Amino acid sequence: MARPKKKIDNKMDNKEKEIKKAKKAKKEILTVTGMRDLLPQDQKYWESVIKVGKKIANDYGYGKIDTPIVEYMDVFERGIGKQTDIVEKEMYTFIDQGGDELTLRPENTASVVRAYIQHGMINQTQPVKLYYYGPMFRHEKPQSGRYRQLYQFGFEAIGEISPALDAQLILMGWNILNDLGIESVIQVNSIGCTSCREEYKKALVKYYKSKGKDLCESCQKRLVKNPMRLLDCKEEGCEKLKIEAPQILDYLDEDCKKHFMKVIEYLDELDLPYVLNAQVVRGLDYYSKTIFEYWSADDSEGKTALGGGGRYDSLVGVLGGRQETPACGLSMGMDRIVAKLREKEIEVPEVYQPEVFVAQLGDAAKKKAFVMYEKLRRKGFKMSQAFYKDSLKAQLEIANKLKVKFTLIIGQKEIGEDTVLVRDMDGGIQEIVAYNKIENEMVKRMDKWRGEKLDKFTVDESDSSLPKPKKQKSDFGDFTSNEENDFEDKRSGKYDNMMDYGNDIDVY
Ligand code: HAM
Repeated sequence: MARPKKKIDNKMDNKEKEIKKAKKAKKEILTVTGMRDLLPQDQKYWESVIKVGKKIANDYGYGKIDTPIVEYMDVFERGIGKQTDIVEKEMYTFIDQGGDELTLRPENTASVVRAYIQHGMINQTQPVKLYYYGPMFRHEKPQSGRYRQLYQFGFEAIGEISPALDAQLILMGWNILNDLGIESVIQVNSIGCTSCREEYKKALVKYYKSKGKDLCESCQKRLVKNPMRLLDCKEEGCEKLKIEAPQILDYLDEDCKKHFMKVIEYLDELDLPYVLNAQVVRGLDYYSKTIFEYWSADDSEGKTALGGGGRYDSLVGVLGGRQETPACGLSMGMDRIVAKLREKEIEVPEVYQPEVFVAQLGDAAKKKAFVMYEKLRRKGFKMSQAFYKDSLKAQLEIANKLKVKFTLIIGQKEIGEDTVLVRDMDGGIQEIVAYNKIENEMVKRMDKWRGEKLDKFTVDESDSSLPKPKKQKSDFGDFTSNEENDFEDKRSGKYDNMMDYGNDIDVY
């Protein structure tokens, strides 16, 4: 008897589903769209940005704060504003197992202000100056310079109204870029306080209403709910309308005008490269008075700003603070800064530069090398090794690539004589050192070398504003010998392209 067709179809569906599932199970799992791994070779760039940022934080008296990556959604909805792109479209919000509505932080200013209120920092000396760095999450359309997990380095100074603070923060962000060797132009504007914005908003609405049909769908809504955000729209048609829109600077009241003029005076005094840019409005609702962005000198349209910030005098109140507490801050976009360092081939120091490599040949030598390595490591030398390799050639190739200053070799002969062969990788000079004197001898050599290195640096590093040199090729050529040489062959000087073991040997 023929089976009903529906049953057969279901069976087929299930089979197809199973095949699909099996295929999916085998498929390589990749990172989430818009998120990426930062691999070991990337780390030196990130660490350089953090190092320079921390130096600036220390220079201007900022203390570090770490806030949780997850906050109650309200922190951002109230803080950043319901009608902003971030809150409307970009937040990663979820309900946790306990039923709480939580959000992966899209930025850190609102979190820092939440922490300021929660920990009663109003009772500390004002302003409270805090810095932070770490990942933020925004569900934006991924593209070059725009990630869904992005990293920021930021400063927040809470509890001070003086325009000197605005100017100093603008300077601090610029200093980060300058110290890294990135040329930037600061874009400054003022959006006044709530009362000047009221008049301005009326003018904006009047202007945009006259252009009603040319506005995109989101802007039609913004026109009613939050007209300031009309100026953030990236839609082509709306961008064009911005050019002739009324400018906020014409609506500033006396107090806001005076504040802004002072900021500008300080920037002039500091001789900072800035332009007054009425098109910069920033996409977050908490700003008042001064706002600013950092654009790379070669990015005249500010397509990928390297950082931005501004004054946010009402945010503490909006998030529940009882006293009026003016504040100002900025965040630098680390992803974009790192991309710029790479694009400009700006050289940054390695995360870890080993100075001494230990090589060994033979089992007895390996055991002794293990012990010597630990002694030197504990003494504080920056060490490296490849004890899992048996071939001396392979080990020396690694030492060469690592650009260490010294390679210490223990082979059969050294085991017999209880010595270590010390090779200075710069000049190729080799010396035999008694095993029990190796620590002291290495201390002497390293002190001498570090002294020489410092002498070299005292001239070039005195001016931190100097652009950093372009990448240079290592002075060391790669080892090219293709033979499985053994240690004794090299000692006799057969393989000149690897090591010249015949000359300059002194016994200590
Ligand atoms: P923001 O302008 O939204 O400001 O972000 C600051 C910087 O983070 C941007 O200039 C950009 O370099 C970087 N950035 C933003 N979104 C992305 C993304 N999707 N991918 C890569 N980089 C991105 C704020 O976040 C404010 N909290 C700044 C602030 C601090 N204002 C006062 N204090």
